[in-house]
Parts: sequence; structure tokens; C-alpha cells
Amino acid sequence: MNYGDDYQRLSKYTRENLKGRNLDWVNKPALYKKYSPELEKFELKKPSFKDSINLYDIIKRRRSVRSFMGEKLESQVFSDIIWSGHGITLTTEQHQFRAAPSAGALYPIESYCVINQVEGFKPGVYHYQVPYHNLVLIKEGNYGIELARAALGQRMIAEAAFNIVWSAMVERSKWKYDQRAYRYIYLDAGHIAQNVALAAVSSGLGSCQIGAFFDEEVNRIIEVDGEQEFALYISAIGKPK
Ligand SMILES: Cc1cc2nc3c(=O)[nH]c(=O)nc-3n(C[C@H](O)[C@H](O)[C@H](O)COP(=O)(O)O)c2cc1C
Repeated sequence: MNYGDDYQRLSKYTRENLKGRNLDWVNKPALYKKYSPELEKFELKKPSFKDSINLYDIIKRRRSVRSFMGEKLESQVFSDIIWSGHGITLTTEQHQFRAAPSAGALYPIESYCVINQVEGFKPGVYHYQVPYHNLVLIKEGNYGIELARAALGQRMIAEAAFNIVWSAMVERSKWKYDQRAYRYIYLDAGHIAQNVALAAVSSGLGSCQIGAFFDEEVNRIIEVDGEQEFALYISAIGKPK
């Protein structure tokens, strides 16, 4: 079963198959995921935009870091890093544009924080509400250990100050791109994760991007169904040892 090869071939754009596509505006999927208003919310600090290292130095310094100090992270630094992934950077009459590019500005990626040690936040699993720049607590507990197990036992996840799990709500992108959307969701997630990796360096932290995990176990931790929405990628972030 060479389904990867098949997918790459079958999802090609050609001059023939692009003709005559119409968008169904009435059934455009919602851009933002909503949780029950009963769930506890935690405000994030506004981005500090403090002076830091030159961008080219940050790019040069970035390395995958897999060993962390296990120290509590300040909430400003935490907020800045969450925002850098795909926080809102421009609001117009029609759109809210974000820090990372997204195919068709459809923003199919969702962010879940699995917090181990961050000032002002209980350990637990949170969802990042992009338009409000806050976190909704999905469940409290030391899920870092469970997430590490789900990621083939990669201990750095349990030692990091926090982890971000990125998922895709693929219908948002399929609405316009159909099966080709599966190419774009991974590209979107890569842009977001790179922003986070560079922001971490800028704040004196380190990160490791993680693609090796048991999909359904991670889906269960972030409480998504694995069909409409599924985990794609993880970043572990903390003070390097
Ligand atoms: C898509 C992707 C998946 C990755 N998955 C893992 C992983 O599961 N575990 C890990 O330790 N590193 C993982 N990495 C990090 C790579 O091993 C690392 O980027 C590579 O060795 C180059 O080193 P550098 O990041 O320090 O430049 C992943 C990187 C990418 C881009």
C-alpha cells in the first residue's frame, strides 16, 4: 500500500482539474473552535515585544533541545510564545490575520497547551482561543507524563515547562481545497511550529518539534475525535539544561 505516493499523485493540481470550482459560502466551516462557557478561562499577557536578539542570530542559535531544567516559566514569556505561533497580528473588516501564513487564510490548525510548570497556570490541558488570546482549561492534571508516553516515551515532554499539541480541523481547509487540503495542513502547522521555535530562542528557551507519537493516544489527551480533528505535531518548550 503506497498510499503516500498515491496521495501525492492524486492531489496534484493540473490545468484540467482546477476548472470550474465554486465555493459553498453558506456552508463555510466556522473559523474558531468554541468550548462551553462554563469552562475556566485563563488570560494570557499581551505580547511584550521586548528587545531581543537579532532574527538572524536567533535562526542560527535554534537547535532542537531535548533536556530541560524543570523550572517554572514566567507567564509573560509563556504568553509571548503562545502568541508567536498563530496569535492575531492584523484585524481588517473581513479577516483576522495571524502570525503564521495559512493557505486561503482558513486557519485549520488548533493549539492545545499541555502545561507542566508555568506561573499562574495549573498543570493541565488547555485550548488556545486565538481571538481572545486566552486559554480554556479542558482538564487539570499532570498530563505531561501521559503525553510523553503517547510520544513513544520521549521524556523531554514530561520535563518541559509546557508542550503545544497542534491539531487540524481539516474541514476548514477541505471546504476550499478538497483532498489537497491534507498537503496544506502540514505546511500550516510547520509555519506555526517554526514561529514558536524561534520565539523560544528569543526568550532564552529551547524547544523540540516532535512528530513521533501514537496518534489516537494524543487525540485522547487533547479530547479530539481523530476524524474531524486530529493531532499533527507537538513542541516541547522549556529552559535548556
Ligand atoms: C517533522 C519533524 C518531526 C520531528 N520529530 C522528532 C521527534 O519525534 N523526536 C525528536 O527528538 N526530534 C524530532 N524532530 C527534531 C529533528 O530530529 C531535528 O530537527 C533534527 O535532528 C535537526 O536538528 P536541529 O533541529 O537541532 O537543527 C522532528 C523534526 C521535524 C521537522
